[in-house]
Amino acid sequence: MAIAILLLLFFSIPFSESKLTKDYYKQTCPDFQKIVRDTASQKQAAQPTTAAGTLRLFVHDCLVEGCDGSVLIASNHLNKAERDAEINESLAGDGFEVVVRAKTALELTCPGIVSCADILAEATRDLVTMVGGPFYSVRLGRKDGQVSLASKVEGNLPRANQTVDELIKFFAARGFTIEEMVALTGGHTIGFSHCKEFTDRLFHYSKTTPTDPEINPKYAEALKMTCGNYTTNPAMAAFNDVITPGKFDNMYYQNLKRGLGLLASDHALAKDPRTKPFVELYSTDQAEFFKAFSHAMEKLGHHEIKTGHQGEVRRSFTRLIELFYYYPPMSQSMALPILFLLFLAIPLSESKLSIDYYKKTCPDFESIVRDTVTSKQIASPTTAAGTLRLFFHDCMVEGCDASILISSNYVNTAERDADINQSLSADAFDLVARAKTALELSCPGIVSCSDILTLATRNLVTMVGGPFYKVRLGRKDGQVSKASLVEGNLPRSNQTLDDMIKFFGTKGFTLQEMVALSGAHTIGFAHCKEFADRIFNYNKTTPTDPDMYPNYAQGLKKICADYKTNIAMSAFNDVITPGKFDNMYYQNLKRGLGLLASDHVLVKDPRTRPFVELYSTDQGAFFKAFAHAMEKLSHHGVKTGRKGEVRHSRTSFGRKSAWSGIAFRESRKEITPPNTCEIFPINYKPWSIFVPDLGASSLRTPLMEAEREAYTVRGTC
Ligand SMILES: *[C@@H]1O[C@H](CO)[C@@H](O)[C@H](O)[C@H]1NC(C)=O
Ligand SMILES: *[C@@H]1O[C@H](CO)[C@@H](O)[C@H](O)[C@H]1NC(C)=O
Ligand SMILES: *[C@@H]1O[C@H](CO)[C@@H](O)[C@H](O)[C@H]1NC(C)=O
Ligand SMILES: *[C@@H]1O[C@H](CO)[C@@H](O)[C@H](O)[C@H]1NC(C)=O
Ligand SMILES: *[C@@H]1O[C@H](CO)[C@@H](O)[C@H](O)[C@H]1NC(C)=O
Ligand SMILES: *[C@@H]1O[C@H](CO)[C@@H](O)[C@H](O)[C@H]1NC(C)=O
Repeated sequence: MAIAILLLLFFSIPFSESKLTKDYYKQTCPDFQKIVRDTASQKQAAQPTTAAGTLRLFVHDCLVEGCDGSVLIASNHLNKAERDAEINESLAGDGFEVVVRAKTALELTCPGIVSCADILAEATRDLVTMVGGPFYSVRLGRKDGQVSLASKVEGNLPRANQTVDELIKFFAARGFTIEEMVALTGGHTIGFSHCKEFTDRLFHYSKTTPTDPEINPKYAEALKMTCGNYTTNPAMAAFNDVITPGKFDNMYYQNLKRGLGLLASDHALAKDPRTKPFVELYSTDQAEFFKAFSHAMEKLGHHEIKTGHQGEVRRSFTRLIELFYYYPPMSQSMALPILFLLFLAIPLSESKLSIDYYKKTCPDFESIVRDTVTSKQIASPTTAAGTLRLFFHDCMVEGCDASILISSNYVNTAERDADINQSLSADAFDLVARAKTALELSCPGIVSCSDILTLATRNLVTMVGGPFYKVRLGRKDGQVSKASLVEGNLPRSNQTLDDMIKFFGTKGFTLQEMVALSGAHTIGFAHCKEFADRIFNYNKTTPTDPDMYPNYAQGLKKICADYKTNIAMSAFNDVITPGKFDNMYYQNLKRGLGLLASDHVLVKDPRTRPFVELYSTDQGAFFKAFAHAMEKLSHHGVKTGRKGEVRHSRTSFGRKSAWSGIAFRESRKEITPPNTCEIFPINYKPWSIFVPDLGASSLRTPLMEAEREAYTVRGTC
């Protein structure tokens, strides 16, 4: 039944009021499209329900308070966010993951530029197209919202049990016509629904008839079997389009006419005279459906968007949470003029390193390291802190030459087996080995392990919220690694400030650079023995350092009570935002929340205190100083040209030994993948990290929350 009203097409509705544009990121992030597309296609290939999940997430986000990425915000202690509203079972983890992965990759390419809302809009279109649906243009420039409330969800999403009247009213209130409503519902061609959304149709249709007589009987039978136990198994779901569930096509409308509509609200569309003509049209003419769907999606993508100053480009969620932490009072701030002696003038030009060292010989270098780093950090959130530590350790001991990656052998104890080695993370070793393996397949024998470690460190710092800085390349790997060279070449947590200043001075770092580098403790953690003296043996009369915030000291005492036997026990250096790279470390120092004696001394001594004051109040100044100090550190003692090698595998070590027992060692060597940065497989134990209970019960939960936030959301979307 073709109807004239259909020809009233809606292409005349202008989007021009909107401030979005197609080439919004053209200058600022030219790889935006490519990165989102690659991420989406990888994820879709691995997990075919991603398209449906992401489409659902997008619709949910846009209908509740506009397309502003607010559905991606996690709940916290005081606020239940959109994604935790009761209807949330329909939100697939896969959709969240696509956005988080793309955001992570984008933050490395063009930090702070692309909003989560734009990523979600673009990824949804890509996925729709990928599974057979239409291509429509996605305008960009959305900003992310800062508010996400579960209470805003109810009433802002259509429900499966609504009547057509209610649905029409619902969509009309948001500016959508009936035709647009029917077209958008066609998204169910790839969706699925949980049993509770349609069990009334199967088991409680009416008092006399348990099952809706208009459902195809065989279909009803199958659904009853699937959903027989839905109250005990609420995750059970059925495809909305039972015939071609993975394909974006017009089968959904054809199904409705055959009694194969799943939800009551689907089926009603084929019955109501206001919506039936559109169902008829779309079921026979897929091109019409695609046209209408494209239009409706573009329109939905503009729903109550935030642009300009109405929103932000979200970098992490912690902003929403920080408000709820308990802060001990800050001591008086004291700004000093010496801070303006900035060091940006120091030239790094003596070094022979260059930004585009691998441009010709290994053009995929950056993207391979980026992808490896992204997967590793997502799988194991302590990677960032561990890698930063490894990098620091490597550079301080005999220069940035990846000598830290060399294993010990029979005749030599290597750097990594010095007694301070508990602070070295297996994740970081694993990361470098993985990147090296991938690079050896792409451009064998070209890229040094030390360049990989340097770039991976920068990427991870940026990924968890820290500054982006330039990484010059061309380091060669060292061939010598001796545990005996470690002592005296790393700062210790019990050093006096004089010793620290002297130590950094001999390595060529100023006082200010030393304070900035210490800021890396914003994501690190330390084993109990590094600070046990502060809590148990401060001096003869006073067991605990009186400068330490009492509840904090108490919490630390509890977790470290048996640190001598449980040597893996550790605490975050930044107890407030342990997973986020920010200036909280310096704020903590002023509140007695510094962990190590060498942290606390920075705020006590008049020589370093001004820098602590500056960085605690001005994160921009800290980021600038940190970025500079890291660039400088990454040039420390580098080997270039013939002074080093591009390490392949370290067979040059240990070959001499020919005694008994070596057979075992040799065979271990053989099973190690060739061309990695390691000789022997790493069998480091994973760390156990504990967040101390700060005493007051109101404190416990937010701190746990901090951990959950930082570690599940990982500072991105
Ligand atoms: C849904 O929200 C509840 C809290 O209301 C939460 O415990 C649960 O994990 C959420 N489910 C999903 C799938 O996100
Ligand atoms: C529709 O379903 C929701 C949630 O399942 C329920 O709260 C509401 O009462 C239902 N409405 C009707 C009219 O059945
Ligand atoms: C429902 O649960 C019962 C008991 O757990 C089990 O025996 C039965 O097979 C289940 N039915 C379906 C359809 O999964
Ligand atoms: C640290 O080095 C020692 C050898 O000095 C080694 O036995 C131990 O396994 C290393 N610890 C870790 C955590 O790797
Ligand atoms: C500092 O700690 C190291 C290792 O724990 C120890 O060998 C050294 O004696 C300590 N120095 C001081 C001054 O306490
Ligand atoms: C121990 O430290 C406290 C606090 O700093 C101080 O008052 C006390 O005099 C010290 N005692 C000794 C024996 O040094």
